Amino acid sequence: MKKITIAIDGFSSTGKSTLAKQLAKHLGYVYVDTGAMYRAVTLFAMQNNCIGADFLDKEKLVKSLPSIKLSFKFNPELGFAEMYLNDVNVETAIRTLEVSSFVSAVAAISEVRSKLVEQQQEMGKEKGIVMDGRDIGTVVFPNAELKIFMTAGADTRAQRRFDELQAKGDSVTYEEVLKNVVDRDYVDTHRDDSPLVMAEDSIEVDNSYLDRKEQFDVVLELVNEVI
Ligand code: C5P
Repeated sequence: MKKITIAIDGFSSTGKSTLAKQLAKHLGYVYVDTGAMYRAVTLFAMQNNCIGADFLDKEKLVKSLPSIKLSFKFNPELGFAEMYLNDVNVETAIRTLEVSSFVSAVAAISEVRSKLVEQQQEMGKEKGIVMDGRDIGTVVFPNAELKIFMTAGADTRAQRRFDELQAKGDSVTYEEVLKNVVDRDYVDTHRDDSPLVMAEDSIEVDNSYLDRKEQFDVVLELVNEVI
């Protein structure tokens, strides 16, 4: 069976990573969460005074980029790779609403994008990879054999993310989460560098009314048509 590249793009909190993890496990592929990489750079920016409630010191962050090392380490107990920032596990720290509120501004910086895209392309050069993000089918792997674009209503997505954050004990309100989802969608689709758009050869999957199993079955059928 030939190994392919599967690109999964879409709006915030559409369940891209859940689907990508399921597919990678089923196919024995590597899974890469590129959102985690942008989140880790954002955490670095927060920890190093490059970003705060009312400022983003882009120049300082760009100058610091060479000192940011991003890596993934597979955690067999979880069944997926966790994000490390300069060899520190940041998998939990990057998932807060605070990081979510800054990440789209950081992800709009071209120098940040080119560093991360280069690393992503390197990770995928052997194929047998499922990568999720915003620009995977358009910029990172424009030749991916299968491109999925995931959508769902903003309310549905915010509710899912709210439930996740609450389960982790984060004290956030549904309204805050909805605002973050809508704001990120706006910045991600309107930035100059690699805006979130559906690649022409992408297949749209609206999972507003699909559960995890149904969504997986739909996409697995698409995979089987290609491999
Ligand atoms: O996927 P996740 O919601 O964790 O991504 C966080 C943010 O990182 C997105 O809202 C977007 O601003 C940025 N991102 C991006 N390009 C990617 C992946 C994520 O710009 N490939």
